[in-house]
Amino acid sequence: MRERFADSDSFSRIRPKGASRRGRKADRFDDAEPEYLYFPSEAFEDSQEFDDSDDSADFEDEPRSAPDGPPMGDRWSTWDQSTPTEKGPEPRPGWVVTELAAVDTEFGIVKTGKEADVFLLERAVPGTERRTLMAAKRYRDSQHRMFHRDSGYLEGRQHKESRVSRAMAKRTAFGKEAIAGQWAAAEFAALCRLWSAGVAVPYPVQITGTEILMEFIGDEAGTAAPRLAQLRAEEADVEDLWEQLGRSLALLAYDGYAHGDLSAYNILVHHGRLVIIDVPQIVDVVANPRGLSFLERDVRNVGAWFVSRGLPPERVEALVESLAEEARLRR
Ligand SMILES: Nc1ncnc2c1ncn2[C@@H]1O[C@H](COP(=O)(O)OP(=O)(O)O)[C@@H](O)[C@H]1O
Ligand SMILES: [Mg+2]
Repeated sequence: MRERFADSDSFSRIRPKGASRRGRKADRFDDAEPEYLYFPSEAFEDSQEFDDSDDSADFEDEPRSAPDGPPMGDRWSTWDQSTPTEKGPEPRPGWVVTELAAVDTEFGIVKTGKEADVFLLERAVPGTERRTLMAAKRYRDSQHRMFHRDSGYLEGRQHKESRVSRAMAKRTAFGKEAIAGQWAAAEFAALCRLWSAGVAVPYPVQITGTEILMEFIGDEAGTAAPRLAQLRAEEADVEDLWEQLGRSLALLAYDGYAHGDLSAYNILVHHGRLVIIDVPQIVDVVANPRGLSFLERDVRNVGAWFVSRGLPPERVEALVESLAEEARLRR
């Protein structure tokens, strides 16, 4: 299974399971982002834990390794662990593997970030041709997280259980897990909303706790699409990309939202197709008193990349204006 990826570019960035933990760093392009190591196999072990406290003699001689693990792969498909609202919107694309006999195999890290790590995951039905690649974005809990986006953004999101709020405020391990879960839930909800509105975002497959599974933007061999910031001049049709971006941002604005953290690092370009990612913090531009300034900041941030590639600066300002109108913030 793994061999299929052995020749791809991205595989060289991926640490196979069992490789040295302090070995090679995942490739990074924006040096502003610190890197934390997170070990996929541990995440899977967690999810396959079984109750050790069982003292029933009946099980004494049972083999204890992988009591009900799949015959191949790292875990059974987690599809049935998500409730209907934790699954992506209809109409569901045909490539989504929903068969309960499917198994998930992890092919390593695509990218580590400040709050989350993104892994390449295959979901396949053994003995058939049915397989799909997905990006698994896992929000980090407890130890290795920085909370730079938490204050402000999460304030005001009322939490029903005050025990949870208190734990979050105190940053206990439980509180951190709750925060990670809230970010994952916020991003999953945003992806569902934006995908349904026609914005170019990865299709959100499902969420389980702090893990979001979504459409992998990249090729069949597991090579992730480059971010806009890494796109080589000869690969970039600036006019066409600007047009695609404008269309998505108009749909977003029409729906009343701004991305909130838009930059050339949160846009992927796969063979000319532009896809916006990293949306947990989308901003309701109508309800938020600073809505318009979030919208302006987004467009100017990403506009700077386009201007550096020859786009006339007045087109950036023109987009700001038309989006403000689209969001009914003007006139
Ligand atoms: N759906 C996806 N398909 C392919 N690569 C992805 C996908 N989502 C994220 N990535 C890769 O992972 C990186 C980090 O993801 P992002 O959502 O931006 O998280 P962060 O909050 O860490 O910035 C991206 O820059 C991109 O390289
Ligand atoms: Mg990002």
